[in-house]
Amino acid sequence: MNPTSHATTQDLGDIRTVLEEDVLAVNELIIKRMDSPIEMIPNLAKHLVMAGGKRVRPKLALTVSRLLGHSADAHIKLAACIEFIHTATLLHDDVVDGSALRRGRATANILWGNQASILVGDFLFSRAFVLMVEMGSLEILNVLSVAASRIAEGEVMQLMNQGNVDASLESYFEMIEAKTAKLFEAAAEAGVLIAKPADEALRLKFKEFGRCLGLAFQIVDDVLDYDYTNVVSGKKAGTDFEEGKITLPLIYAYENASISERNRLREMFEQPASLRAEAFTGMADYIKQSGALLRAHDVAVGYANKACEILADLPPSEGKELLLEIAYGSAMRHA
Ligand code: IPE
Ligand code: IPE
Ligand code: MG
Ligand code: MG
Repeated sequence: MNPTSHATTQDLGDIRTVLEEDVLAVNELIIKRMDSPIEMIPNLAKHLVMAGGKRVRPKLALTVSRLLGHSADAHIKLAACIEFIHTATLLHDDVVDGSALRRGRATANILWGNQASILVGDFLFSRAFVLMVEMGSLEILNVLSVAASRIAEGEVMQLMNQGNVDASLESYFEMIEAKTAKLFEAAAEAGVLIAKPADEALRLKFKEFGRCLGLAFQIVDDVLDYDYTNVVSGKKAGTDFEEGKITLPLIYAYENASISERNRLREMFEQPASLRAEAFTGMADYIKQSGALLRAHDVAVGYANKACEILADLPPSEGKELLLEIAYGSAMRHA
C-alpha cells in the first residue's frame, strides 16, 4: 500500500471485499475452535455465535492490520481469539445481569441455565488462550491476557457499585474503560502488533483510537438501555435499571434532579428489582425528558470524534475510511 495515495472507489471496494472474506474466515475458525465432543458446549456456543452479533471487535483488529499492510494469516486467529473473549464475557455477563434476551434470542442462561453458561464461557476463554499461544507472540499474549483480566475487574467494579446512586462519574468511566474499552483497545493494539510490531508510535495511536471507540460504544449501549422503543440492539431495554446499574444517563439525571426527585431515585434503588422493572418506562421517560439521555449520547459522540481525530494525520486510505465508519457507526447505532 502506498501511504501517500488517495483512496479511490475501486480501492474501497477492494478492501471491503478483502475484509468481508476475512470475517467469513474468522467465523469459520470460531465454529471450528468451539467444537468439543461434549455436545452441550458447541450447542450452547453456537446458539449465541450463530445468532449474529456485530463482530465489531474482530473487524477492528482485521481493519487495523490490513490498513497497515498485513497480508499473512495471523490476523484471522487474532480476530477469532478476540471474539472468543467477547463471547465468553457475554455468556458470563448475561448470568450476572440476569438477562433474558441477547442478539434477538433467548439467552443461554435462560435456555441451558446459569451453570452451563458459566462453564461454557470458561471453555471459550480457554480456547481464546489456545489461539493466543498459537499466534506465537508474547506481546500479543500480554496485551490480550491483560485485557481479559481487566474486563473481569470491570465487571466486578460494576457489581460493587450496583444500586449506589452516589457512584461517581470517575468510577463509571473507570468501570466502562475496564469492562468494555479495554478489549477494543487490545483489538486495535494487537492489530498493529501483527502488522508493524516495531512501530511503537503506531501502536500507541491505535491503542488510544480503540480506547475512545470502546468508551463511545459502551455509553451508547447504556443510552440504548433506556430507550424502550429501540429494536436494533436485540436486547431487552431496562435491564440496567432493573439490575440497579448506575450508568451515565442515570448519573446525569441524578445530578440535575431536585431534592425530592433525588429521594425518589434513591428509594427506587432500594426496592427489589421486580418493582424497578414495573417502574421502568416511567423512569425512562423521566430520564429522556430531563435531557440526561441526550447529554450522555453527546459524550459518546465526543469520544467517537476524538477517536477519529486520532487518525487525522494518517494519509487517506480505504482502511482509514473503514475505521472512521466503525467509529461513527458505533456512536450513531441508535438512529
Ligand atoms: C455487547 O457488545 C456488550 C457491550 C460491551 C455493550 P456488542 O454490542 O458488540 O454485542 P454483539 O457482539 O454485537 O452482540
Ligand atoms: C458490557 O456491559 C459487559 C461486557 C463487557 C460483557 P453490559 O452489561 O451493558 O452489556 P450488555 O448490555 O449486557 O450487552
Ligand atoms: Mg449485560
Ligand atoms: Mg448494556
